Amino acid sequence: MNVLVTGCAGFIGTNFVYYYLRNHKDSFIVGLDKLTYAGNIQNFSNLKEEEKKNFIFVKGDISNLELVNYLFSVYDFDVVVNFAAESHVDRSIFDPATFVLTNVLGVQSLLSVAMSFWKKGDSWKSGKKFIQVSTDEVYGSLGPDGYFTEETPLDPHSPYSASKAGGDLIAKSYYHTFGMPVIITRCSNNYGPYQFPEKLIPLMVWNALNHKELPVYGDGKNVRDWLYVEDHCRAIDLVIEKGKIGEVYNIGGHNERENIYVVKKIIEILRNKTGDSKINESLIKFVKDRPGHDRRYAMDPKKIINELGWKHSFSFEEGLEITIDWYLNNLDWVRSVISGDYLKFYEKNYSNR
Ligand code: NAD
Ligand code: DAU
Repeated sequence: MNVLVTGCAGFIGTNFVYYYLRNHKDSFIVGLDKLTYAGNIQNFSNLKEEEKKNFIFVKGDISNLELVNYLFSVYDFDVVVNFAAESHVDRSIFDPATFVLTNVLGVQSLLSVAMSFWKKGDSWKSGKKFIQVSTDEVYGSLGPDGYFTEETPLDPHSPYSASKAGGDLIAKSYYHTFGMPVIITRCSNNYGPYQFPEKLIPLMVWNALNHKELPVYGDGKNVRDWLYVEDHCRAIDLVIEKGKIGEVYNIGGHNERENIYVVKKIIEILRNKTGDSKINESLIKFVKDRPGHDRRYAMDPKKIINELGWKHSFSFEEGLEITIDWYLNNLDWVRSVISGDYLKFYEKNYSNR
């Protein structure tokens, strides 16, 4: 099977490439990534020799029609998994336009090329699939009770989530209007190796190790439903294998935690692992809240559990230990990814809070 994995050099894309090559030795992956600040080609340096034979990396934009057209003509893809996106909510508040370009127009470009190739055959019968990887954030925010189901109306609140909802809707329209074999997955907060250190968990790990302040937004009581990235990759693998065309699948691990709990747990684990007493709760600083900050996300993953047989396998505390170990063993990776545009963005927008 030939698979196009877009956004392959970002956090989840990288983990997916490793997961898929390990579990599908007869598949070939073309990884397409624009290599924004969030993408790193050196992520693939740990692929085994036999895995490298089944993988090729192409630098490029999903909106580049000529390039994507060329890749389809050479590789005749069976499956597209679209991870490519601008993914950070804070950045979307400073620069919404870039999010619309990739997360809405980029999705439409990719779909248009896939359609021009797949309509030549009978894409449904021949098992073609276009997986649009989306997020629980398109559903908006929850109060203290209840869960997002696949039927929850879309109510995005940030430019990021609005752009992802736009991508979902354009993908859905290609299914209804043109019969494209689209499936949408919506996942809760992922964490694990290779996550860019602007996101809560790796940022806190890095700052704590460097005895820098740990900026907690608002009162720290916002809730996220954490999912270890490998569980997400396994869910997408199942969707490729058994997912029904035209459907939406929510993916979440029932691991709801308040942000302040997450930060304190990171401090505890890091102090135990390093023996560094300067890593303590005095580093926590409550800062101005993120504008429009969603209070609580929580997924109901019943559908993917009942219909596809998926189940998460990592509790939050187990996954967090593994994640922290990975960062402790890969501090050079962190140094290299924060050395460029990221630091400029951070200094410009966050230095006075
Ligand atoms: P990420 O920011 O780490 O990676 C995104 C990748 O996409 C980067 O490698 C970047 O270079 C690439 N990219 C950006 N614009 C591109 C373009 N125009 N053309 C080609 N490549 C481009 O993001 P992530 O956390 O790995 O998220 C992957 C996908 O999963 C996104 O669609 C995101 O919305 C979704 N998602 C993420 C989470 C999460 O918790 N991280 C949860 C649910 C859904
Ligand atoms: O829910 C899925 C989404 O999870 C994905 O669609 C997004 O791509 C991904 O970035 C993530 O979005 P969040 O906004 O939830 O992730 P982030 O790591 O930025 O923040 C997690 C929580 O921690 C959120 O409530 C904001 C808070 N936070 C974040 C940062 C970076 C802080 O309190 N301090 C911080 O410095």
